[in-house]
Amino acid sequence: MNLTVELGERSYDVVVGDGARRQLRALLKRRAPRAKSVVIVTSPSLASQPWFDIDSGLEQHLLSVPEGESAKTWASTEDLLERAAALQLSREDVIVGVGGGAVTDLAGFVAAIYLRGVALVQIPTSLLGQVDAAIGGKTGVNLAAGKNLVGAFHQPLGVLCDTSVLATLPPRERLSGLGEIAKCWLLEGRDAKSLSSISFTDLVQLSIGLKVAVVSGDEREGGSRSLLNYGHTLAHALEKLALRRGPDELRHGEAVAIGLAFAARLAHALGRVDDGEIATHDAVLDHFGLGRRLPTNVDTAEIVEAMAHDKKAHHDLSFVLAGRDGFAVVAGVDPTTVRDVLDRFQGEL
Ligand code: GLY
Repeated sequence: MNLTVELGERSYDVVVGDGARRQLRALLKRRAPRAKSVVIVTSPSLASQPWFDIDSGLEQHLLSVPEGESAKTWASTEDLLERAAALQLSREDVIVGVGGGAVTDLAGFVAAIYLRGVALVQIPTSLLGQVDAAIGGKTGVNLAAGKNLVGAFHQPLGVLCDTSVLATLPPRERLSGLGEIAKCWLLEGRDAKSLSSISFTDLVQLSIGLKVAVVSGDEREGGSRSLLNYGHTLAHALEKLALRRGPDELRHGEAVAIGLAFAARLAHALGRVDDGEIATHDAVLDHFGLGRRLPTNVDTAEIVEAMAHDKKAHHDLSFVLAGRDGFAVVAGVDPTTVRDVLDRFQGEL
């Protein structure tokens, strides 16, 4: 299946299907006909996978970066920039990110700033990367103060979502991607019952379809793209606090799942939805096997504080919330209400 992110002359296709990675050579011929050299950014564990047969048809250099979120640093950025320069990668050449969201975010950022921007292709290999991170041109790295605090919008020439590589994903990686799929399902206003009659492939396609449509309508998050942050105000805060305890404590999609359950409860407390909405959220998350409990070892006052300092918070508490007329960004939510709902949520059995 091909879906097109419609952005005028920067439009590009997202190819979804088994073996999509093998379309790299044809994509480069079509979209980067003057390229002579390709830098592939990936992690050692991916480069050793049996399916890692990435073939650009051009002079190809493999640059390894650390595994997981620890790749998304200034140090990795600088290292990749120096290595690309040492290889004399030119303006006509291409950077290809092959990996999960951390790798594609980093590869995209380097492509955005090397020589003031070179062409990029994304080959996301995690479920989260395929349904969210690699599509839409958001690139960046983390700072000590928080995730994704530095970055740039840099749209790729194409995204190749090879669904066959998902078979080798560790269960927790897969679960993390399901958090974003659950978000898309809820944003589409679907209920839990209809989940039993939809295939996994259709779920992936539905999520990618939503992302493609939203980015096509609002590339720079001036409006509707912010709805993709559903569940993310709490998720980002939980991730920030969890990072202090260790890099593997909480995956993004796991945090999003908790954020979605909380968002339903907050919307209910603000009189925006009835309690059926909470039941729907819980049933959808249960269907995917996603935990939705707020960890008991975090202080709710600390969570509120972290949410107020999210990069999207504009110095107040804002959430994407369901309502009778659909989803909306609700700004200026009273911190006491948020704390009360968090306390009750944490106390749920
Ligand atoms: N992950 C949300 C977005 O790309 O806008």
